[in-house]
Amino acid sequence: MIDLRSDTLTQPTAGMRRAIAEAVVGDEQKREDPTVTALEERAADLLGHDAAVFLPTATMGNQIALRLLSEPGDEVLAESLSHIFRYELGGPAVHGGLAKATGRPPWSGSLASGQPSSQRISRMESFAAPARSRS
Ligand SMILES: Cc1ncc(COP(=O)(O)O)c(C=O)c1O
Repeated sequence: MIDLRSDTLTQPTAGMRRAIAEAVVGDEQKREDPTVTALEERAADLLGHDAAVFLPTATMGNQIALRLLSEPGDEVLAESLSHIFRYELGGPAVHGGLAKATGRPPWSGSLASGQPSSQRISRMESFAAPARSRS
C-alpha cells in the first residue's frame, strides 16, 4: 500500500529544516515574500498556468476551489468519505452558499466516471439544485 499522506507522515530532512530556517521572508500580503513568490512561480510553471497562489492549508484550498467552481445555490456532490463531506462541515454553505450531497442516495453513480450529474436525483426534480460537472 502506498500512503500518500506525505504532508503528515514524512519528516523534513535536515536540509529542509535548514532551508526553512534560512528562507528569506517578507510580507506576503504586500507580495514582499520572495520565497512564497518563487514557490508560486514554480508551481505555475510546473502546471503550465499563468499564476499560482500559495494556500497554507488544504481545507482553505478546498473551500476556495468550491467557491470558484460553483455558484451560490449549487449542490456539491462529494464521496461520503471525502474530506469536504466528513470534516469541512458547514464550510461550503458558509463560504459558497452551497449544499452538500453524499455519494449515497438520493443520487448515485461514480464521481470518478465524471458522470454524477446525469445519474443523480431520485428526488423530485423541483427540489434539485443545479448540477455542474467539473474536473
Ligand atoms: C483531501 C484533504 N483535504 C483537506 C485536508 C485538510 O488539510 P489541512 O489540515 O491542511 O486543512 C486533508 C488532510 O488530510 C485532506 O486529505
